[in-house]
This record gives sequence, structure tokens and C-alpha cells, in this order.
Amino acid sequence: MTGGPRAALPDSPAQVLADLLEVQRRRFAALDPRLPPAAAPPPGDVLVVGTPPHRAAGVVTHHAWPAGSGPLLWSAAQVTELHPVVGAAGHGPLHALVEAWRGHVLPAVLRDDDSAAVVTWPSRDVVATRVFLDHGLLPLAVLAVRGLAAVRTPAPDRGLVLRRAEPADLDACVRLALEELAYSSQVGGSLVRPDAEAVKRTMLRDRLGRGEPTWLAERDGAVVGMIECGHADAAPGTWLANLLPAGRWGYVNCASVTAAERGSGVGAHLAATAIAALEAGTSGGPVRGTYLYYNPPNPLSSVFWPRAGYAPLWTLWEVRPAGGLR
Ligand SMILES: CC(C)(COP(=O)(O)OP(=O)(O)OC[C@H]1O[C@@H](n2cnc3c(N)ncnc32)[C@H](O)[C@@H]1OP(=O)(O)O)[C@@H](O)C(=O)NCCC(=O)NCCS
Repeated sequence: MTGGPRAALPDSPAQVLADLLEVQRRRFAALDPRLPPAAAPPPGDVLVVGTPPHRAAGVVTHHAWPAGSGPLLWSAAQVTELHPVVGAAGHGPLHALVEAWRGHVLPAVLRDDDSAAVVTWPSRDVVATRVFLDHGLLPLAVLAVRGLAAVRTPAPDRGLVLRRAEPADLDACVRLALEELAYSSQVGGSLVRPDAEAVKRTMLRDRLGRGEPTWLAERDGAVVGMIECGHADAAPGTWLANLLPAGRWGYVNCASVTAAERGSGVGAHLAATAIAALEAGTSGGPVRGTYLYYNPPNPLSSVFWPRAGYAPLWTLWEVRPAGGLR
């Protein structure tokens, strides 16, 4: 029999992730009480950098959107995504993690111009903000939430008529959705791909056909604005439950006011009507609040949504193409 102390076995990657996730739950809770408990990362390539107490980890996933699919109007075709599990780590380990991610991006993705490196992280974690900025990631979008609260009522506008959209309004909805896409493609991650009109038309036809709540604003008989909304459940195991506390939520998918009418209160009327209706709940039960995505570089929506009561919860950091990650 041999004597002497036995060398400690290194922790398995799964154990490292589990330990760091427990600490990360406390990090998230301290950062922002509106966040759900930090979720376990999806399956993928596990990265571990550093040693305790300066250890951090993450999971790298890769996905490709098929031609003609809806997400290609706001996403690159190939996406490498980092899911950090960093416990209480500060700048040093976070830098090392992003560097390790850079080394794990598939060569085919690095060569593809239609690619992106993406990480979604709590907006209030400014330690991570510094690191992401230093590696070339941009805050291209935020998921912003609004708790239940009285809706700011805009000044009356007698010339404006608001009504629910019906399937027969498809053409007007497509026109406004494309106006929004054209504007947003200049100030965020949206892309006007050659099949954009056909893809939008199919998505809107389906939504209107299902009776999902969409409101239109009309002036002098012409449709000048649209707000396209819905409800979603942050049920355990769904992707939404990783982002929002469990329960039912209302969401705004697209808001668009035709260029000539912007800045004159049409959007505020649409938002006030839609938010009040979404908060009133559905047969699916009461809602906890409402959420939406907007682009911080959009000079209209970045003013408009905070004025309506929305505050960033998650920031979607992104580099396009993925080879721009440094
Ligand atoms: C964002 C949008 C839907 C807002 O609708 P709108 O009719 O232009 O907005 P409103 O006139 O109702 O403005 C409401 C508030 O937004 C702010 N706002 C609107 N236009 C603004 C502008 N040009 N500059 C600064 N603030 C502005 C104001 O704070 C205003 O509140 P106030 O009147 O109390 O000051 C509309 O501008 C639009 O379609 N933009 C292009 C597409 C887009 O960005 N869609 C949103 C994607 S998330």
C-alpha cells in the first residue's frame, strides 16, 4: 500500500458550471430584482478559464437560421453565442472567458460575412459591460420590461381613430412593418433581405389569422400607425423563463408610425391603448407586465419606450460579422 496525500481531482466541467451557477444566482439577485433566477446554460462547448477564486466558465453554442425564416430579418445567418456562467467573477476572468470564446468560434463562421457573435447579459451588470465593449461587442438591442402601472394618456387627437386590425388589413400592416424594418435596419440588427416583404406578409397573415392583438391608427381614412402585440408564458423550461420571472406577459412585437406622422403623438396613442389592453390580461390569466425589444442606437424608440415606462433588463451584445470579436 502506498502512503502520502492523494492529489485532489480537478472538478469536472459540469461541477464547475454547477458551482458557478449557484453564485451567479446571487449575483443576478443583487443586481436586479426584476431578473428571474440565473438559468443553467444550454448544452454546448464548455469553457473554463482561471482557477478559484478567479474562475469563470461559459457554454458556446452555434446555430444557423434557414433561408426564408423570420429570424433572418433581425439576425445574422450563423450565430455563435456565449452563455456565461461566471459566478462573482470580475474583469480579469471575464476578459479571459471572452478570449477563450474567440478561440472557439468555428472557422466556417469566422469566414462568413453573414455571421454574428452574440451574448445576452443583464443590462445592469456594468462590470461585464466594460469587458464586452473592450472586445468589440455592441449593445445592439435591449429587452425592456414594464411592470403593471397606470398608462400615460396622451393629449386627445380627434382626427385619430384607433381600432383592432383584421385579416383584411394585411396590406396596410405589411407596409408599416416594412417601414419599421427599413428604419430599424439603420439603427440596429434588423436586415432588409430580398425576401423581406414575403416573409413579413406570411408572418403577419398568420398573426392576424390567429387573432393576435394588433391595433391600427387611422387619419382621414388612411392607416398611419400599427402596434403588433401578443401574450407569452414564461413557463418553466421555456426560453422566456430564462429572461423573465415566471408567469404570463404581454409583449409588443412591432410598433410603426409612417414617417410623415412621427413625433405627433400617434405612437403614444397606440402604445397607451395596447399596453392597457395587454395588462388587462386574457382568458390565459392575469399578466405580470409587458416587455419588448428596442435598439439603443435608435434615436426614436430609445426615447419613446422609456417614456412609456420600459427599462432595460437584458442587453443583447453583438458583433457582426463574428470575426470582428477581438
Ligand atoms: C417609435 C415610434 C413608433 C414612436 O411613434 P411616434 O408617433 O413617432 O411617437 P410620439 O409622437 O407618440 O412620441 C411619444 C414620445 O416619444 C418621444 N419622441 C417621439 N419622437 C421623437 C423625436 N423625434 N425626438 C425625440 N423624442 C421623440 C417623445 O418623448 C414623445 O413624448 P412627448 O410627446 O411626451 O415628449 C415612431 O417614431 C416610429 O415608427 N419610428 C420608426 C420605426 C421604429 O423605430 N419603431 C420602433 C421599433 S422598437
